[in-house]
Amino acid sequence: MSGRVLLTGGAGYIGSHTCVELVEAGFEVVILDNFSNARRDVIDRLEVLTGAPVICHEADVLDRDALDRVFAAHDFDAVVHFAGKKAVGESVAQPLDYFHTNCTGFSNLLQAMDRAGVRRVVFSSTATVYGKPEVLPYPEDHPLRPESPYAANKLVCENLLRQVKAADDRWSYGILRYFNPAGAHPSALIGEDPNDIPNNLMPYIAKVATGELPCLRVFGDDYDTPDGTGVRDYIHVVDLARGHVQSLKLLIGQDQSHIVNLSTGQGFSVLDMLRAYERACGKELPYEVVGRRAGDLAAFWGDPSRARDLLGFETTRDLDDMCATSWAWVSRRKNS
Ligand code: UFG
Repeated sequence: MSGRVLLTGGAGYIGSHTCVELVEAGFEVVILDNFSNARRDVIDRLEVLTGAPVICHEADVLDRDALDRVFAAHDFDAVVHFAGKKAVGESVAQPLDYFHTNCTGFSNLLQAMDRAGVRRVVFSSTATVYGKPEVLPYPEDHPLRPESPYAANKLVCENLLRQVKAADDRWSYGILRYFNPAGAHPSALIGEDPNDIPNNLMPYIAKVATGELPCLRVFGDDYDTPDGTGVRDYIHVVDLARGHVQSLKLLIGQDQSHIVNLSTGQGFSVLDMLRAYERACGKELPYEVVGRRAGDLAAFWGDPSRARDLLGFETTRDLDDMCATSWAWVSRRKNS
């Protein structure tokens, strides 16, 4: 399938991997990014990986004129919206900033799309919209009870999409609820590259493995889980990126709106992840158990069946693959 797609936040972790998968699938890609949480050399790396020039507009989704200029410069078939703030803890401390970037930014984008007559959008949502599990794995029709400002922002955007479509049936959308992304591209040219001390487990373990951080702090080993540590559904970022290709195919090919989990359907604990990373890097990694992190859930994982039935989406990469590609990427990054 072909088509020209705008990726907001396309220089970021998930955006950059999606760019590669889209180009491989035959799409033309244009990136819009403000580089607040991505490095500019990602674009050069994407050019090496795709073997073609990558058009990138340095702009912010809060800048309405800049959005209009980008839509005037290209004829898009669809937009994939990644741009936004994503640290759950930070969102608790900065709810206004989070609302502004994540909700006002998205509403600006939808307005610019409408003015330009582009009415297909894939939206990066999150498993945290579900909140405390009533059943596991989470099905897409699980009650939505977000517990952080970040998760609440995502739900506001999901609802806005539903309302926009109800008002004007020319719109179609794909809402993709991500579980926990991990790993890097097998080329080791792109991967997760947090500016500060990471909040998330995988990039934190990676920095312990490279020696940039002394020791993993395991947030609680007294949960009601097999080894007492938190359980999540980790999904390889390349699989996650492929989910966007499938979602776009359904939107562009059939104008069929959808809400799907991008998950593996399997949960692994913090200690499972640590052990897998030790296998990848070939050394023991130090850790200490500390208290639970405020707001953490014990365990959750997603039901992948709707993504399989609707998008033909299945994950193909396992935990060892996530850790091996992450280790290759961070080792290379540290030495470059
Ligand atoms: N954990 C540690 N030590 C750390 C970091 C995390 O023990 O240094 C534990 C957590 O307590 C949890 C597990 O590792 O049990 C995973 O934590 P993450 O911070 O990596 O991920 P979360 O599940 O809290 O949230 C992440 C993203 C959200 C996203 C969600 C989707 O931060 O943006 O996954 O499932 F929405």
